[in-house]
Amino acid sequence: MTSLPPFPARLPGGLSAAEREARVRGKISGSLARYERAQHSLAGGVSTALRRSARPSPLYFQHGHGSRIVDVDGNSYVDYTLAWGPLILGHAPECINQAVAAQLYRGHTFGAQHDLEFEVAELLCRYIPCADLVAFANSGTEIVQVALRLARAATGRTKYLKFEGHYHGWDDSVLISYRPTRQQIDAAAGQPIPVGLGQRPNHETVAVEWNDREAVTRAFAECGNEIAAVVCEPLLCNSGCVAADPGFLQFLREITQAHGALLIFDEVITGFRLALGGAQEYYGITPDLATFAKAAGGGLPLSVLAGKREYMGHIAAGQVVHAGTLNGNPVALAAAKATILELARDNGAAYRQLWEQGERLRLGLEAMLRAAGLPVMTTGGGPVFHLSFMEARPHTYRDTLTANTALYSDFGLALLDEGVLVLPDGRWYLSTAHTASDVDETLEAARRAIR
Ligand SMILES: Cc1ncc(COP(=O)(O)O)c(C=O)c1O
Repeated sequence: MTSLPPFPARLPGGLSAAEREARVRGKISGSLARYERAQHSLAGGVSTALRRSARPSPLYFQHGHGSRIVDVDGNSYVDYTLAWGPLILGHAPECINQAVAAQLYRGHTFGAQHDLEFEVAELLCRYIPCADLVAFANSGTEIVQVALRLARAATGRTKYLKFEGHYHGWDDSVLISYRPTRQQIDAAAGQPIPVGLGQRPNHETVAVEWNDREAVTRAFAECGNEIAAVVCEPLLCNSGCVAADPGFLQFLREITQAHGALLIFDEVITGFRLALGGAQEYYGITPDLATFAKAAGGGLPLSVLAGKREYMGHIAAGQVVHAGTLNGNPVALAAAKATILELARDNGAAYRQLWEQGERLRLGLEAMLRAAGLPVMTTGGGPVFHLSFMEARPHTYRDTLTANTALYSDFGLALLDEGVLVLPDGRWYLSTAHTASDVDETLEAARRAIR
């Protein structure tokens, strides 16, 4: 932790964190009772581990509409979690409702071909710079595995290079050096760090720090002829929205080319979010392969591998296996088509709004917290940004370890009490459903929360 200036536990007329917590607990009795019940039959009471980190307790929701979500106790929140990213058009947008409803009456899944497959594929190939061909699956975790398999097939090599703090799903092969603690980093002495128990020993991952050109150069010098690919989140959204330093993505493009390795952008978050063509469009660097999920399905389970023909051709030729009973699911593809058409409408009006409202919110929060004497740092921008309590702009995952996460947790709890739902890790997602008045309301709520 940095030595933050002391922040009073309570300002005149304000509430302490403990009082906030008691007040929130009093408003969410329905959620508390359901969570207690769920733990008797559902391992951990939640369907994915991270959801347990919600404070004061995981909430249960009854419905969402646009920018709002309503819990089972009737509390309504302006939602900046957006289901951890997928809801780029907000909750239950009419265009997706209609497309999905129409498809539901035609059939839920065929396990065979249908028109939405090539209609969505054509749209993706039009908008994603690296997409000569695409392939579908259901989750980000799966599709990253397809990308790595393809890279191994194309190069005949087995290793890949990733960056500390980057998340590429929960498969053993990639759940490595993701948000290690300072103690784990010190103990590992440069070796890749598994995240949980039961993971297979990993001999294929080379993990280095984000934005560290020398470490990447060194890794290629040491074992370049074994490295099939470099994979990264082009904007490190999973660990503090840490941007690539100027020229770093271009450097990755060049060094992979020089060593005959593939460059894979994991655009599971940045895809459709920074731009319809993802971070590769936004930054103007074209990878060999890219993975999309989250916003690609607009809230339904869909993931996409997009890539250059010379690599995707291995799938086309049946040399690299890419399979899945529900791949190309028509309900998910109906949602994807509606999402893409909406985002592409009016020459990108959706993105102008996402950026405008997102930046108003980010800068408004930053100014307000600074005025309260807090060393706040925001990274990323517009459709996805990160807010943390720290002094200096982070360049690596390790830099983010200096953030005062306990203070952010108190802030998140106070926001919840004031009707604003945020993720526990400091990431904020916007949707096209968030209006200027939502942002005004949120800034007002934040003003009360800061007290
Ligand atoms: C960048 C990135 N890659 C891969 C994944 C895994 O996607 P999924 O949760 O759909 O398996 C995630 C999920 O958060 C992600 O953020």
